[in-house]
Amino acid sequence: MIPKVTVDKIIETARVEEVLGDFITFKKRGVNLLGLCPFHGEKTPSFTVSPVKGIYKCFGCGKAGNSVNFIMEHLQLTYPEALKWLANKYGIEVIEREITPEEKEKQTERESMLIVMQYAQRYFTEIMTTTDEGKSVGLGYFKQRELSDAIIQKFQLGYSLEERNAFTQAAVKAGYQPKYLAKTGMSILSNKYIEGAEVKVTDVFDRYAGRVMFPIQDDGGRVVAFGGRTLTNDKKIAKYINSPETDIYNKSKILYGLWLGKKTIQQNDACYLVEGYMDVIAMHQAGIENVVASSGTSLTIEQIKAIHRFTKNIIVLYDGDEAGQKASNRAIPLLLEEGMNVRLLFFPNNDDPDSFSRKVTNQEFKDYIANNTQDFLYFKAKKLNSETKNNPIKKATVIKDIVDSIALIHDNIIRSIYVKECSSIMDLEESILQQEVNKIRRKTIKKGITLSGVEGTEETQNTITPFEVEENVKIKETEVLNFDAEEKELLRLLLAFGNALVTIEAENEELEKYDVEITLGEYIFFELMRDDIKFENPMYVQIYDEYVNELSNQRLPNLNYFSNHHNPLISSFVINYVHSNYELSKKWKLHGVIIPEEIQLLKKLTQTTLFSYKARKLTQIINESQQLLKTAHNNEDEIILKQIQHFNALKGRVNKLLGRVVIK
Ligand code: CTP
Ligand code: MN
Repeated sequence: MIPKVTVDKIIETARVEEVLGDFITFKKRGVNLLGLCPFHGEKTPSFTVSPVKGIYKCFGCGKAGNSVNFIMEHLQLTYPEALKWLANKYGIEVIEREITPEEKEKQTERESMLIVMQYAQRYFTEIMTTTDEGKSVGLGYFKQRELSDAIIQKFQLGYSLEERNAFTQAAVKAGYQPKYLAKTGMSILSNKYIEGAEVKVTDVFDRYAGRVMFPIQDDGGRVVAFGGRTLTNDKKIAKYINSPETDIYNKSKILYGLWLGKKTIQQNDACYLVEGYMDVIAMHQAGIENVVASSGTSLTIEQIKAIHRFTKNIIVLYDGDEAGQKASNRAIPLLLEEGMNVRLLFFPNNDDPDSFSRKVTNQEFKDYIANNTQDFLYFKAKKLNSETKNNPIKKATVIKDIVDSIALIHDNIIRSIYVKECSSIMDLEESILQQEVNKIRRKTIKKGITLSGVEGTEETQNTITPFEVEENVKIKETEVLNFDAEEKELLRLLLAFGNALVTIEAENEELEKYDVEITLGEYIFFELMRDDIKFENPMYVQIYDEYVNELSNQRLPNLNYFSNHHNPLISSFVINYVHSNYELSKKWKLHGVIIPEEIQLLKKLTQTTLFSYKARKLTQIINESQQLLKTAHNNEDEIILKQIQHFNALKGRVNKLLGRVVIK
């Protein structure tokens, strides 16, 4: 781990104009520099560097960041790798933090395992290209599947001899410890091995014998696992054997193809999701590199998040067979819930991307994809419609399916567009579909927002006349509810001013009031927590969660922490939005020091934002309850009405408080 002082030193030293100057030729434009953007092809320069702010921004493609982001993106490095790259450039010595003996042992173990995997990959490739069996059986198999030499090399494919322990023998002879051969799963412990004893050569045998080998790489391109395919058609033998879960192979996080594809995924802002190793490889051979497969498991949330770092657009290319249908039925709800835009593509006659790509030319393959990709929900709506045309009862039962999917979408605007479109495709009244969606969402929204801090006191209720509330802050019931403005503003306040100290009124157990001084960050946190409010936008959630996590570890993350974030989406959001809106108000600017009047203003601004955010959340709940009421049965009626009254009362109080803050 690189210690924080060293990180700070690297960031301080690595001046943006110097670091980028190694890759781009700049011209001076006032205080800024201007050059051609390396991230998108352009002829007129729109890539701007501000040496004063230490950041860059391209006005053509929108990419923005600091020196570290640039190196990460341009050289496709991880955050620590980019830091080390810069440290090396500037001759800064990186002494990684002292680690505990246990950590050290774990680390050495992991390193030893990675070295074993690297050896194994080279060994299998060598066997395939230099031995008779390797050439005729292994290479022969890949040739028969029409893979080019270049592609075989690119994916570092190999072959494991049809022998009981050829690999294990070779590895031990080359000096690798049997212990690590077993730990990586490359060799299997025989049943003679006694638990806890030292692992001896005679205890281990090859896991893969007589299989072609597909190395699986992590984000940094290191081999962490293998998939091995049998060459027989024997249905009793597993077609693929994969490495077990190990200290270096976390199955639920790794995606096959991500390392080779991430740059293209980002450039094209889209990612193809396929089922198998051969599908990823065949797509590359056809010239499509933004493709991944979940290897050895069904798609997990962590894998989706790994894709989401690069794009939110995903095209699912699963097989049309039963297994493929099942897999996509499982994957799609997870994708929708993670905020991804999901499109689907089917190949004719149960072909998978690999088999289809070999029946057509590369151009035909690309055209087919371009012309046949369809939005997931519209596809589903159309399908339901045709299948249930003359069967109203069946129709009613299958509508639930589509409603479930729409209800998973967090973004209010996108959700309402889907409601509109799908109701028209299915020839269904929009309001009915809307009600059904609301019902589902209502169940998932945490019940009973209490807004405890707002449960009014007499004092707050008398400070302002209803008229003033109406005038100032009433939120229109009819407007589409969008929380973005408030969420963004809260994040801005949190990140830019989170460590400013504000005084707030608290209550002790005897209900006596007293003043406490807390940071603005803590204030926002407590306010959101006690009403159990979560941001809608997944990226904001991530920033917020990380902020809170830092807080709970006694660290106060400053703006720098996020503008140097390893997730380029986050750092560019912070640089683009928070940095450029750093002024608290038009009248004055903030330069690190906050004078008392400004603190008051800051607190007021935060309160206004919090209250208007809460009022909007309440409006959402009330709207949804009112929709519910339309379809409610008699006995539910009363409960829902009570709820609505309760929420309306709360909203009245929030609005009053809000009015007070605005007017005061
Ligand atoms: N898979 C696996 N174990 C199996 C079968 C399949 O791990 N016993 C995984 C592999 O990652 C495989 C993917 O599921 O690539 C899809 O399986 P399948 O469609 O059966 O194989 P294909 O990828 O089409 O393989 P091939 O074209 O070589 O038959
Ligand atoms: Mn296949």
